[in-house]
Formats: sequence, C-alpha cells, structure tokens
Amino acid sequence: MTSATSSGAEAEAGELSTSTVKVTFEDGIAWVVLNRPEKRNAMNPAMNRDMNVILDALEIDDRCKVLVLTGAGDAFTAGMDLREFFRETAGFDPIKRRRTMAQATNWQWRKLRYFAKPTIAMVNGWTFGGGFLPLVACDLAIAADDATFGVSEINWGIIPAGNVTKAIEAVLNERQALRYIMTGDPFDGKKAAEIGLVTEAVPRDQLRVTVVALAQKLMKKNPITLWNAKVAFKHIGEMDWELSEEYLTAKAIANTAMDPERGSERGLKQFLDDKSYKPGLGEYQREE
Ligand code: ACO
Repeated sequence: MTSATSSGAEAEAGELSTSTVKVTFEDGIAWVVLNRPEKRNAMNPAMNRDMNVILDALEIDDRCKVLVLTGAGDAFTAGMDLREFFRETAGFDPIKRRRTMAQATNWQWRKLRYFAKPTIAMVNGWTFGGGFLPLVACDLAIAADDATFGVSEINWGIIPAGNVTKAIEAVLNERQALRYIMTGDPFDGKKAAEIGLVTEAVPRDQLRVTVVALAQKLMKKNPITLWNAKVAFKHIGEMDWELSEEYLTAKAIANTAMDPERGSERGLKQFLDDKSYKPGLGEYQREE
C-alpha cells in the first residue's frame, strides 16, 4: 500500500472512496489514491467515472486545501487500462466510445488542470502513457528517484493521443519530447526532474514528507490568489503578449475583487505599516 495511507491521524472519507479510488483527509490535504494496485492502477472506465465525481466533490470540500494525487502499491498509474479502455470498447458505437474517452480526459486534464485548489502529483512508481496526462495536469509533481516513467504508446503501435502529446509538449522541450515519444524508452525519476517533467525527485523514503512540506507551504498562501495565479499561467501560454497583458490585468482585478481576506491590502499593511514581514522572503500572516 502507498505511504499515503500510513498516518494514523488521517480521516477516511468513506463517502468519497470507491472501489477504484481511495480518498482520505489529513491536515488540509486530500490524498487521492488511484487504487487498483493489482492492475498497477491502470485507469479503467470505472476509475475515470469515479474520478470525475471525486474531483467535483473535493473542489468544494473544505477538508481539501491541497489535493495530492498518488497511486497504491508500486505504481502511480500504468496508463489507460489496455483491456477495459481499449480492447473492450473497440466494438462500441462511435458515440458511446467518445463518451468513454470524454470521461477519461475530463478528469485527467480538464478538471485537474484548472482545479480550484493546488494539486500535487506524488509519483510513487510506474507512470506510463495516459498517466502523463494527470501527472502534467497537476500543478506540481514530486517523484521518487526510482519511479519509472515511459511514453510507451509507440511500443504497442499507437500515438500518444487523449491529449498526452499536448501534455508532454507543455512541459518538455522538443528534443526530449520526441526522444521519449519516438523511442518509448523508460526513464527514472531523476531524469524526469532533469528534463522538467516533474518538479523534483527525491529518495523514496523522503517522498511523502517532501510532499507534505510542500502542501503545508501552499496552505500558508492566499488560496484565491493561488487559484487565479495557476489558472492564469495555464491560459497565457495560448495567448500573444498583447492579449496576455489584457487578460492578466483583468484577472488581477478579478482576483482582488473576489478575495474574501483582502490579501493584497493585508500584505501591504503588514509590510509598509506594521513592518512585520518582508514579502521578498515569505508570505503575509493570513490569520491576525
Ligand atoms: N492496462 C491493463 N492492465 C494492466 C496495465 C494496463 N495499462 N498495466 C498493467 N496491467 C495489468 C497486467 O495485465 C497484469 O494483470 P494480470 O495480473 O491480470 O495479468 C497486472 O496489471 C500486473 O501487471 P504486470 O505486467 O504483471 O506487472 P509488472 O510489475 O511486472 O510490470 C508494468 C508493470 C511495467 C507497468 C507493466 O504492467 C506494463 O508494461 N504495463 C503497461 C504499461 C503501458 O504501456 N501503459 C500505457 C498504456 S497506453 C495509454 O495509456 C494511452
């Protein structure tokens, strides 16, 4: 079982856990564990349906300040379930098959990429093919040094579709992206960090503690501003400089208007008047 379930302090979200995904809460972190270890957490249609419901629920659940996505056992996820997702749907009519595909990509990037709270992928092991989509859709990713990654589609004769190629293009440069798309070669967590696929790779015994420390750091920041900052970053890549400036200006105004704790005022007061902190070195005090 993954280390995500190792603490006694966590509360199980029985109402959210399903036969394919385990959800627990601990000190503001929602641990979302892809939970088919006997199938290396391959993403089957049931898991995809469950993840859509779970992400919708967690987005408005106050117990979830930061979402951590990980896998049970020795896999993050071995990608799409080759039997249930590909072979068994091959005979479906096109509309039904399209629906199955949409249920997958809806959570794997649409919901996860713009999730209203910070998301961290805790990559504990095997990560292949379609697994790159939720991996990249998470804001941050911490991997075990010895986790194994692979864009393995080429090895069984398909292209990385389902938006996997788009995810890879978003984080890797052309030389590295095409190297792995075209060879399908596996690589480890250290290499994943070196090429920018993950934020950082750490020794396996440091994985959970590193993720928890990162989540705690994020929880000290203004949550509305975190949300707007990440969504803005993810959209401006598709814009030219003129449009980006217009969009960011409007987004900044919207952020200030929708922020219930009036963070920017508080931050300026604590720096300029109270002289109680330095914005260059850390965040303002959220609770006074
Ligand atoms: N889809 C369906 N079943 C899978 C998948 C998958 N992606 N990955 C593993 N499984 C199943 C195996 O069929 C096996 O099932 P069984 O016990 O009923 O025979 C079980 O999980 C365990 O798999 P093993 O191969 O025995 O496990 P091992 O630890 O030796 O190897 C590894 C793990 C390397 C992940 C291997 O299972 C593998 O190569 N899986 C496929 C990875 C892949 O290429 N995924 C990309 C798919 S393409 C896409 O996602 C778009």
